[in-house]
Amino acid sequence: MMNFIILLGPPGSGKGTQALLLKERMGYVLLSTGDLLRDEIKRETAFGLKASEYINKGLLVPDELITGFILDYIERNKLYSENILLDGFPRRISQAEALSVSMKNSDKKVDAALLLALDRDDIMYRLSGRKMCPKCQSIYHADAGDKCEKCQTALVKRTDDNEETIIKRIDVYENETAPLIDYYKKNGLLHCVNGKGTVEEVYERIVKAVKNNG
Ligand code: AP5
Repeated sequence: MMNFIILLGPPGSGKGTQALLLKERMGYVLLSTGDLLRDEIKRETAFGLKASEYINKGLLVPDELITGFILDYIERNKLYSENILLDGFPRRISQAEALSVSMKNSDKKVDAALLLALDRDDIMYRLSGRKMCPKCQSIYHADAGDKCEKCQTALVKRTDDNEETIIKRIDVYENETAPLIDYYKKNGLLHCVNGKGTVEEVYERIVKAVKNNG
């Protein structure tokens, strides 16, 4: 079993879907920054309200707001003693460097960065049909019913899943997050996984990449 796994990939590439499977089947502790932010927004905290101004425009939340929030969350919940799957952090090289500095105080290290690759047409198709459970965070596509299969809560569409914001998020990913691909490649940690195919096919590719890494 590894220490920290980072999930990278454009919006809609399946990071959240695969993260939930890895959590259920391989026992990782999942830290999804998107879910944490949406929870702050739902509870209308000052931080959540500020973050929503950026999220609804498809922009990244500024480092001075998000980095301390995530690193404090890891520290507060003693996650440095767990095997963690990070979905959505880091999203800029500056965040990766801050994570690396904070990990120096623990015996943990990043073991792998898994890049889920998917083209723009597939991203648009997947995100324009996505529904999610606001209670347990389960993720569904358009062909799902109106209620969550796990907790029966009514499914909702994310406020940032409209065409204009999706296009902006893809651009932001390419300009601000994609440089992390080279960053982790240089560190010998990058594994590229084809995100096309069924959920189970992609999951099998990820498990293979994780096992080969170990
Ligand atoms: P976040 O929630 O992390 O959004 P994202 O990265 O844009 O990724 P998505 O959740 O949209 O997609 P996904 O790859 O998880 O795909 P999913 O599995 O849902 O972040 C939201 C916002 O928060 C950001 O835009 C930013 O503003 C802010 N933020 C977060 N972290 C930050 C940070 N570190 N710094 C600054 N700001 C930050 O799948 C999508 C759809 O496809 C679903 O409908 C699913 O059912 C379907 N699907 C999945 N896999 C398959 C498959 N194999 N075949 C068919 N359909 C599939």
